[in-house]
Amino acid sequence: MSKSPYQDARGNKDASITNPKAGGTLKSYGSQSQGKPGPRDGQPYLIGDKMTGGYGTGADILHDCTISVNEGEIAVIVGPNGAGKSTAMKAVFGMLNVRTGAVRLDGEDITNLTPQARVAKGMAFVPQTSNIFTSMTVEENLEMGAFLRRDDITKTMEQVYELFPILRDKRLQPAGELSGGQRQQVAVGRALMTKPRLLMLDEPTAGVSPIVMDELFDRIIEVARTGISILMVEQNARQALEIADKGYVLVQGRNAFTDTGKALLDDPEVRRSFLGG
Ligand SMILES: Nc1ncnc2c1ncn2[C@@H]1O[C@H](COP(=O)(O)OP(=O)(O)OP(=O)(O)O)[C@@H](O)[C@H]1O
Ligand SMILES: [Mg+2]
Repeated sequence: MSKSPYQDARGNKDASITNPKAGGTLKSYGSQSQGKPGPRDGQPYLIGDKMTGGYGTGADILHDCTISVNEGEIAVIVGPNGAGKSTAMKAVFGMLNVRTGAVRLDGEDITNLTPQARVAKGMAFVPQTSNIFTSMTVEENLEMGAFLRRDDITKTMEQVYELFPILRDKRLQPAGELSGGQRQQVAVGRALMTKPRLLMLDEPTAGVSPIVMDELFDRIIEVARTGISILMVEQNARQALEIADKGYVLVQGRNAFTDTGKALLDDPEVRRSFLGG
């Protein structure tokens, strides 16, 4: 199990832990300008606001779907298979035509930006499938993550290795030789190499054991504590909502329930319909 000092502090809102300005010891992976008043006026850091759209000229998959994340918080999207969770992530990242609605990052309308332009603005996305280069080494994967950067990447790589020590041991091995949980660490590490302010993860714990899932969630909490916002889709709904500041239940492309992770876990209807009782 994890040796993280924050192991028992899931969902802890104590600002002395969660706010990197309040004396936290964790290094920052991001380049965020914490505390600086932005143009947001109390708006969330990221919002996909009433998004409606689908693939190509096909039928709409998302209907008035709203997803938002505050700075340094963890937002989790859950819902049945085919509900549109991945589609919502793609819409936020600019991989889908949003017919109506908007995506705003730090108060700026980015609805029409390409995914690459969004990366330049501080967004990073780990998709549900094909999220690493299997024939490349672990270290080459991390280097690929930093392809847009022109500055020195060694410090960020060191931080990724501190977060996921196993990747340092395996850095010269082809990523395809790693276990499922280790591959997901490569994928998350690669995304962190862009020094994002917002990290988007589509089912980061897919196919891993419960112990590895716990471990990954601990690392994700650690990343959030450095001030990076996390938007995550999860199949392990109960465990994910436990660490979520905010949770979204999507059904057929619509917001069915939205609340704090804890309130959703306590909601009898959410429990019965989506969490197995
Ligand atoms: N590339 C695509 N082109 C056309 N339709 C798609 C595409 N990807 C997904 N869809 C459709 O969009 C709907 C929502 O799929 P999506 O992958 O967003 O669901 P999901 O909630 O992520 O499901 P899962 O839990 O299985 O990952 C489904 O009806 C699916 O068939
Ligand atoms: Mg999906």
